[in-house]
Amino acid sequence: MRLIFIGPPGAGKGTQAARIVDHFNIPHVSTGDMLRAAVKAGTDMGKVADGYMKKGALLPDEVVVGIVRERLQQDDAQRGVLLDGFPRTLGQAMALDGMLAAEEIALDAVVLLEVPDELIVRRIVGRRSDPDTGAIYHLEFSPPPAEIAGRLVHRKDDTEEAVRTRLDAYHAQTAPIIPFYEAKGLVKRVDGVGKPDEVAGRVLGVLEG
Ligand code: AP5
Repeated sequence: MRLIFIGPPGAGKGTQAARIVDHFNIPHVSTGDMLRAAVKAGTDMGKVADGYMKKGALLPDEVVVGIVRERLQQDDAQRGVLLDGFPRTLGQAMALDGMLAAEEIALDAVVLLEVPDELIVRRIVGRRSDPDTGAIYHLEFSPPPAEIAGRLVHRKDDTEEAVRTRLDAYHAQTAPIIPFYEAKGLVKRVDGVGKPDEVAGRVLGVLEG
């Protein structure tokens, strides 16, 4: 199974990806997670990425395409993949097409998680992540167990100001890739509003028919 998850910031891509990769036994390739790991490790790329990410701006295509190209060459990605947060521009979508065509590999679906902008800010500002396990929580919608609450982190780009920039980037730069994949008959629209397990049921429903 080769999937792409598209949706605005806070649509629940990471939350759903965790469930779907378990179901299909495929790796979860999140460009956001890879870039955050580079920032944490203090690599040269991480130092560049940090400036863009804090503001909520997209990194240049060539940087992100390079890290995805390398990741897709690893052994575990040969059996399938869930791409979360990539591609995010038409340039990235075309670069991915080229990578897949070179390997004679086809995508199975592009899942578009739809959540209205009004809900996004609430979801983002209340998000907390567990640095030890990567689990995603929400102070109101998905509260963490009390024993781990102290170690949870709040992403630097999860401020109201940065999320507005991220939403603008989504509408201006990412939404235009939807028609690109619609023309290929790959887009599966899923209502992302509701309990996470209900949304997961809808995602599996569109993937398994
Ligand atoms: P990235 O990490 O990809 O962030 P994003 O797309 O903005 O998505 P998020 O991780 O914020 O949200 P999500 O949809 O995964 O939601 P989640 O499941 O966590 O990218 C960050 C930055 O990296 C970018 O701004 C850019 O700078 C850079 N970058 C990354 N990829 C790039 C690329 N390809 N090109 C260029 N730059 C790139 O859920 C959010 C919250 O809502 C959580 O608290 C969760 O508990 C809660 N929640 C989830 N589902 C539900 C539900 N059904 N009901 C109630 N609450 C819910």
